[in-house]
Amino acid sequence: MDVQMAEKRVKDLQNLLNQYGYEYYVLDQPSVPDAEYDQLIRELIELEENYPQFRSPDSPTQRVGGAILEMFEKVEHRTPMLSLGNAFNEADLRDFDRKVRQAVGEDYAYVCELKIDGLAVTLSYENGYFVQGATRGDGTTGEDITENLKTIKSIPLRIKEPISIEVRGEAFMPRRSFEALNKAKEERGEEPFANPRNAAAGSLRQLDPKLAAKRNLDIFLYAVADLGGMDVTAHSEALDLLDRLGFKTNKERRKCATIDEVLAYIEAWVEMRPNLSYDIDGIVVKVDSLEQQQRLGFTAKSPRWAIAYKFPAEEVVTTLRDIELNIGRTGVVTPTAILDPVRVAGTTVQRATLHNEDLIREKDIKIGDRVVVKKAGDIIPEVVNVLADQRTGDELDFHMPTHCPECESELIRLDGEVALRCINPKCPAQIREGLIHFVSRNAMNIDGLGEKVISQLFSEHLIKDVADIYKLTEDQLLALERMGKKSVSNLLEAIEASKGNSLERLLFGLGIRHVGSKAARTLAQQFENLYALQKATREDLTAINEIGDKMADSIVSFFEMEEAKELIAELEAAGVNFDYKGPKPVSVESSDSFFAGKTIVLTGKLEQLTRNDAKERLEALGANVAGSVSKKTDLVIAGEDAGSKLDKAQSLGIEVWDEERLVQELKI
Ligand code: IVH
Repeated sequence: MDVQMAEKRVKDLQNLLNQYGYEYYVLDQPSVPDAEYDQLIRELIELEENYPQFRSPDSPTQRVGGAILEMFEKVEHRTPMLSLGNAFNEADLRDFDRKVRQAVGEDYAYVCELKIDGLAVTLSYENGYFVQGATRGDGTTGEDITENLKTIKSIPLRIKEPISIEVRGEAFMPRRSFEALNKAKEERGEEPFANPRNAAAGSLRQLDPKLAAKRNLDIFLYAVADLGGMDVTAHSEALDLLDRLGFKTNKERRKCATIDEVLAYIEAWVEMRPNLSYDIDGIVVKVDSLEQQQRLGFTAKSPRWAIAYKFPAEEVVTTLRDIELNIGRTGVVTPTAILDPVRVAGTTVQRATLHNEDLIREKDIKIGDRVVVKKAGDIIPEVVNVLADQRTGDELDFHMPTHCPECESELIRLDGEVALRCINPKCPAQIREGLIHFVSRNAMNIDGLGEKVISQLFSEHLIKDVADIYKLTEDQLLALERMGKKSVSNLLEAIEASKGNSLERLLFGLGIRHVGSKAARTLAQQFENLYALQKATREDLTAINEIGDKMADSIVSFFEMEEAKELIAELEAAGVNFDYKGPKPVSVESSDSFFAGKTIVLTGKLEQLTRNDAKERLEALGANVAGSVSKKTDLVIAGEDAGSKLDKAQSLGIEVWDEERLVQELKI
């Protein structure tokens, strides 16, 4: 083949494959079998390798994911990416409608769209070519995730007209991809994603685009960032324009002439929502006319011409097959409902905690009952109530056992507690749970050493205490189920790396009663070294502000135990670090930080830093980060979609900051 012929073939293949890709991923109407597409793309890859001068930025070969990034660059949005006000019921929607009518008169229409549960992104095109894609960030500044976005096949690398345009939409993970991903993660013993939204966000925040490419993400575009100069007078026309340019838009949108039509659309989607192949968390209602949108304008945070109706937490009915008992690392016996698998709020649920026997009595739960299940905070499955009128008479009463199902010692109800406990320190269930805790994310954070692998290692007697983790060999790990050479070497590396963790992780990981991750940090900061803490008396400990009598006693008795002394010696021999490596503690009185001594509540979705990260930084500056808003709260940091905590803060007149302000003040 000569160069000219090669050039023509490369161009033809690029065009043809882009067309096939468009038909497959955007229109959902494939016109050629997959095998034919695969063969043509292989031909194109080879030709482009031999003739790299003909590789173009919109070639379908450019989607595979390029070089690994060090970090994401910041992108300042040319027009801010706002969020929407929320409506939770009919009254909120009628209120919104009244305000619209007051502002624009009688003659207006709405466009209703599905509120896709993913993450907002913005895509910039220059002369028809995709040049940059970014996250929403704080609405003003996001992160450049262009390379990851290129791996989403429904994002055109070149649009159908050579124009410059910025478009916005929601990137998401379809349910099937999410389930496959979580299944694979669980098989590798990794923590699964809680829901498709987190999975999509996690995938787009991968610094290695090759990983993002494996995640099968998708997108719906719902807006043009700046319609100036375009021949468009209504939002519905903008969506049609997006279609014409080759973007993927959601086809379930409807124009509604009245708020009653909007309500009917919402009602219909409450029913149809489970049948979708992706998650939605509400319906977005937008005034159609752009001129009317302009008249309505914006509040500080969101447009007055649109509102997001949020679905109530989804509730589903299933059968409670059994009640299983779990023994936690402190010996507490927790009854767990085993359910017929059922999809709720984005994932398949098969278990729900029942907390304790009192709760089972209160809700009158019997084995075999039909039960209503929801996810509290859309994450933790919970049995809401029993459908007692559907009982057949075959249901069985549940009674808590008198003895530990794992070690058979007698269960005790400690004074003032509702929980039953196994108090045998040698109970295998407690030891196993303690090991799982030791490797968990907030403790030693050993990647690849999840619940399943620990359970296997424990039941095969390869580990009996946490020090044994550091004695594991390649051969022992290779003998485990589903452990290949690569995962074993990654795991050994992660174990090795964990030896260098700062002291607070080790302290928390040891699972000393009453010592949570916050107390572990305080102790690590104060004593700086494990041996120093080991020598501390009850008085030394209670002298510290946040350490009470109960915790002090528990720490002293832990270090007095022969087993603990032996364990510490073994950990030291293994080379585990015993020193605190974090920032120096700030004494509240002397700290000149604005945050010192303040009680702060974090709520809503944070985008630029994780909740944990924000918490750690604030605590390092002397703040007390609390879980709920009260009169004692000094400041609330409200991320996106903040809910009742924000409302409460506002009603109490407490100062509220958005994430951007926090980031500024923390000087990140
Ligand atoms: S319109 C000016 N339409 O919901 C606001 N948003 O707070 C433009 N979302 O962060 C947003 N589906 O990521 C719009 N069809 C849709 C949407 C949608 C999902 C997300 C968006 C935004 C949040 C609203």
